[in-house]
Amino acid sequence: MDIKNQTVLIMDFGGQYTQLIARRVRECNVYCEIKSYKITAQEIKDGGYMGIIFTGGPNSAYDDNGPKCDPKLFELGIPVLGICYGAQLMAQTLGGKVVPVEGSREYGKTEVEFNTSSLLFHAADKENICWMSHTDRIEELPHGFKTTAISMDCPIAAMEDIKRNFFAVQFHPEVQHTVEGMLYLRNFLYNACMCTANWRMDDFVKETIASLKKQIGDKKVLCALSGGVDSSVAALLVHKAIGKQLTCIFVDHGLLRKDEGDQVEKVFKQQFDMNLIRVNAQERFLTKLAGVSEPERKRKIIGEEFIRVFEEESAKLGKMDYLCQGTIYPDVVESGVGESAVIKSHHNVGGLPEDIGFEGIIEPLRDLFKDEVRRAGLELGIPEFLVMRQPFPGPGLAIRIMGDITEEKLEIVREADAIMREEFAKSGLDKQVNQYFAVLTGVRSVGVMGDGRTYDNTIALRAVTTSDFMTADWARVPYDVLEKVSNRIVNEVDNVNRVVYDITSKPPATVEWE
Ligand code: XMP
Repeated sequence: MDIKNQTVLIMDFGGQYTQLIARRVRECNVYCEIKSYKITAQEIKDGGYMGIIFTGGPNSAYDDNGPKCDPKLFELGIPVLGICYGAQLMAQTLGGKVVPVEGSREYGKTEVEFNTSSLLFHAADKENICWMSHTDRIEELPHGFKTTAISMDCPIAAMEDIKRNFFAVQFHPEVQHTVEGMLYLRNFLYNACMCTANWRMDDFVKETIASLKKQIGDKKVLCALSGGVDSSVAALLVHKAIGKQLTCIFVDHGLLRKDEGDQVEKVFKQQFDMNLIRVNAQERFLTKLAGVSEPERKRKIIGEEFIRVFEEESAKLGKMDYLCQGTIYPDVVESGVGESAVIKSHHNVGGLPEDIGFEGIIEPLRDLFKDEVRRAGLELGIPEFLVMRQPFPGPGLAIRIMGDITEEKLEIVREADAIMREEFAKSGLDKQVNQYFAVLTGVRSVGVMGDGRTYDNTIALRAVTTSDFMTADWARVPYDVLEKVSNRIVNEVDNVNRVVYDITSKPPATVEWE
């Protein structure tokens, strides 16, 4: 069985929701790939795609300099759905007319009226709320099309040419605020593209293990396991395929959260009987970091030292043929317009140099989004606390201690962080807040404890909600939870006499303090 034999193509015109569209398609259990709008009709034909979705984008379809599609793709007989800019581009390319919206622009939740005899809106409500965000609109239909939805300011909110299987919507079916958006997408995927819902994580796991087995044969694979979700799932897939031919090196740099190193070791060594080498390198890292306060230097030192330790350990193992890495789809997505898919270099800490002398790199998660990686992890039996864990930066607690790093400071931030995590879990906030942690601010202040004056450390609590970590809002954590965390930290953690809560969003702040 090939679960990718029914792929839908997402053509990226630079819209902010491109990856969301792809995730939604996959939630319908249909595999899809994101490609730049520059893909040619011939490449599309060769790709054997079942359907095409045009994303939104910041340009105007009538602007000569805006991104265009290869018009020949409309002759391939493949169903196409245009969304927002994609809808306008379809209209403009096929002979319709797109104009700027004059007067009131539609932005946000909008009441839309549907023709439910349209294939796209089959079984949908006649009226519903959709999310609009556009400065242009389709004024004249291309030949062969009819209008299938209208809104107050948009006389052509959707259109279709059922003979050629072309559909276009001015609103965004992929965003949550479009109440029946998933229904419209399913109608397109199942009833226009005739896809079957065969992209499923249990099959992905089975298929991947089988193909890794074939690819690796009797060769040896090395993996750097960090305990994070991606490297854990990647390693376990390879382990299921080749067992002890895989060796994982887990560099414990001593900058992990409380008990984390032991948990990782326990799960992978005891539960999965993996070939895991844990290198306790805390002293090495602390020595290198001694007296260093500058955030970027800390990162650099940690990244370099990590590679050095890894190289030393792997040298002891003799020749290894492949290197396994936890690269995921958002890291490899081809960007449509400009540089919208820039990957921050600091996110590659733990990324290893390619000249270590491997025959090849194995990246079993290259096609998966994060939520799919988590589902695959659960499918493989990795405990939920590991699979669902919040992101944790490669340089670890080092970038949550302002100034230089010492063992004492690590102890303070580690204990404060553990208390915060415990209380968030108790109140269920761990499921609602995307990332939360304690920071040792480097600020000392005067306090009073018992009858005495204190002059001690300030801990800042940080908690954010976000969908992509590129922007984030500070979480509105209930006062009683903050109170509990604050009380416990000043009472239970030595040398802390003040706790503050960070109420800045990103931008202008970042999630981490360094
Ligand atoms: P910032 O602080 O850039 O964080 O708003 C966004 C997300 O990235 C994580 N982060 C890092 N991850 N190495 C990593 O692997 C790093 O150096 C690093 N710095 C930030 C951060 O935890 C958040 O999830």
